[in-house]
This record gives sequence, C-alpha cells and structure tokens, in this order.
Amino acid sequence: MNILLLGSGGREHALAWKMSQSHHCDKLFIAPGNTGTKQFGSNLPIGVNDFEAIKLACIAEKIGMLVVGPEEPLVKGIYDFFQADRSLQHITVVAPSAAAAQLEGSKAFSKKFMQRQGIPTAAYAEFTLENFEAGKTYIANHTLPVVLKADGLAAGKGVVIAQTITEAQQCFEDMLVHQQFGQASSKVVIEEFLQGIEVSVFVLTDGIDYQIIGHAKDYKRIGEGDTGLNTGGMGCVSPVPFMDEIFMEKVTRKIIAPTVAGLAKENLTYHGFIFFGLMNVAGEPWVIEYNCRMGDPETEVVMPLLQTDLVSLFAAMDNGTLSDANINFDDRFCATIMAVSGGYPGDYQKGILIEGLPTIAAVKDQETMVFHAGTQESGEHIVTNGGRVLAVSSYGKTMSEAVETSKKALASIHFNGMYFRQDIGFEFE
Ligand code: AMP
Ligand code: GLY
Repeated sequence: MNILLLGSGGREHALAWKMSQSHHCDKLFIAPGNTGTKQFGSNLPIGVNDFEAIKLACIAEKIGMLVVGPEEPLVKGIYDFFQADRSLQHITVVAPSAAAAQLEGSKAFSKKFMQRQGIPTAAYAEFTLENFEAGKTYIANHTLPVVLKADGLAAGKGVVIAQTITEAQQCFEDMLVHQQFGQASSKVVIEEFLQGIEVSVFVLTDGIDYQIIGHAKDYKRIGEGDTGLNTGGMGCVSPVPFMDEIFMEKVTRKIIAPTVAGLAKENLTYHGFIFFGLMNVAGEPWVIEYNCRMGDPETEVVMPLLQTDLVSLFAAMDNGTLSDANINFDDRFCATIMAVSGGYPGDYQKGILIEGLPTIAAVKDQETMVFHAGTQESGEHIVTNGGRVLAVSSYGKTMSEAVETSKKALASIHFNGMYFRQDIGFEFE
C-alpha cells in the first residue's frame, strides 16, 4: 500500500521512520516533509491544509492510507473532506472527524465534554466579550495561580499561568479585547491550577476500541529546571517512573475508557490518535488537555519504543480489529533532546549551516537517531529552517544513560546559536 503522511516536523520524521519499517508500506510520501523524511520516502511540495492538492496527490500516487501529523488539517476537517469525496472514500484516513477534533480545537468544547463524561479535569468557566466584566470579577475571586486559555488553536501559545490577579486580568483583556490570538481568543477559558507532574499518554482508537501505544514526559520550558518561556517541547523521556500499574489503571478507568465511550455516545467519529495531556496530582490523574494527534517531541520517544507495526495498527483500526492487536514495547528507556535555534521561542534566524550531522540520520536498531524538526537543504548543505531544529533520540538501559547518549551525539553536531537543555529527565534521577 502507498501511504501519504502530512507534516514537516520531528514528529513526522519519526512517524516516517516507523511506518517505512512496515511490510504493508510500499511507497511512502510525505507532504511537505523535511530533509530527514526524505530518507524514508518522497517529499511532495504540498501544504498540510491544501486539501485539493492533497486529493490530487492521493489519486496520482494511488494512496491507500493518509496519516495526518499536525492538528490544523484535523480541525479544518480533512477526515470529512475524504469521506465526502467518492474518489477518496476508499482511503484509510488516520484522523478524527472535524466534530471530534474540537476536543483539541476548542478548549471550551473539551471541558464540556469532560464534564458530561465525568472525567477529572480542573474546574473552569468560559467567557467572551459579552460577559467580559463578569470574567474580570471571576478572576478577582479566583485562587492563585490562575490559568487562562484561548479557546481555539494558538500554536501552543494560548495558555497563560498568571501569578497575580492584575496579571490575569491584563491577559484576559489582551486575549478578549485586543484579540491577542485573533479568533482563537474570542472565547477564553479560565481554570484552576493543578499542581503536579505532567505526563502524556497516547492512544489509537476507532471510536469504540482503543490501544495505548505509549506515554512520555515532555519538557516544555526553554530553561533548565523548567524555567523561562514555554516552547513546543525541549525534550522527552519514556517510560516515566510513576507510570506504574496502579497509576495506569487509574488513567485507563477514569480517563481513557470514559473518553472513548464518550466519543461513541456523542456520535463523534474518531479514527486516529488521542493525546491525553495529564497531570499527576498526588497520585491521581487529571486531564489538562486533549490533542487529536501525536505530540512533538513525544513521538520521537514513543515510536522508538513501540515494537508493534504501526501500519498494521492503522489497518486494524480501520477494519474493527484493534482490540485483537498485540502491543509490544522495547524494554529500554528512550530520551530525546531538542536542539533549537538561538533566540527560540522568541525571534531566531533561519538558514544557518548545520555541521556534524550523521549522513544517515535514523536507522533501525541504532542506539541514537537524529530526527529532523526544522531543517532544509541549501545546495549540498543542510541548514536550519525553524526554531526546533533536531530531536536527538537515544535508547538506554536507564533513563540517565539514554539522556547521556543523546548529549554525546549532540556534542558532535553544531550550528551557530544551537541550544539544548542539559537536564532532560532531571526530576527522575
Ligand atoms: P496546553 O496548551 O493546554 O498544553 O497548556 C500548556 C501548558 O500549560 C500545559 O502543558 C501545562 O504545563 C500548563 N497547564 C495548562 N493547564 C493547566 C492547569 N490547569 N494547571 C496547571 N498547569 C496547566
Ligand atoms: N509537545 C507537546 C505537543 O505536541 O503538543
């Protein structure tokens, strides 16, 4: 079968690496892909939201399966687009419907869904310009810190944890009145702050059955010791020591099972990944957010640890046999460290020469894999093309061994301004 994967980050390089190992995968295409994805397939110069161009590519390349990496095409309805078109209906689409993708596309929708399904999540209220003054009063009476979230997609930037009432009210005004995130902040969710350790759990579901395909702890802040600005993710580790049987049983019973059952009850068609962003609050799991896709850089540790054939799982999801699948994991640890451009997550330059890259970036059974996140070719060279540039993933018998191996690999890679966190996995040492 020929497969088309949408996206261009480290997540897609890791997915391409994994899918290309499947005997079900004949030709792999990636749109638009990056320098790394080319190692496993053909990049097509098509944007992830250009549904018409994607359709033409599917027909021309006889695509049998579409796998969607990033959230935007999901929220824009790529699943529904394929279902509505007779020339595309035969294609297995790994994605939720637009209605179900609202779990990620609207924070207010996901909070209401969790309340209806009795899933543990922080107490909240939602506001628009129409009840702006009531929102300010709500904030004035709230405990601190208080969390403000733009309702819609804001490229990971729409969440503010305010330490004072004044800061929270200013943020609230920036989002609603000054439209800081445009349409995405025309509604704002204000929620209780949950104190704990975050962990992300990844599930593949057909809307009835599901399989847990991995979990990871992401490090979102730019600075060591979890300080400074939020980023898309600076590194990840898996497995996480507190994800033992007792905790996983709670996650399954209180969160995953009622979420999937809720999708079915509410007729929300789903054929794809659910990313559960959880907080471990004193041994109890709470949902911080849902995403309708795999995480980045979580995928760069989840895929190396998943031994089961991913394309077979997608096929099982499509033909209703997902519950029969055997999921096997590597028994090692995996850590990824993200090398980012100087200045990120603020302004940064692109087009900077990357030196010391292994020519073959990711090989099965190798100890370290270099996944490309934001890279581009420039003549014979590879140059930076984003804030997050490379995700270096390594296996280890212990978490610290995995982290150290990635650091060693990073020591021979260089680009001007390159920065990475030295302390990924620090709280588990
Ligand atoms: P999100 O965009 O929903 O992933 O939120 C970004 C980050 O904000 C999360 O990864 C958490 O670190 C933090 N966060 C979001 N909601 C809460 C909450 N209710 N309590 C504590 N931290 C939160
Ligand atoms: N690393 C967090 C995300 O993919 O949303």
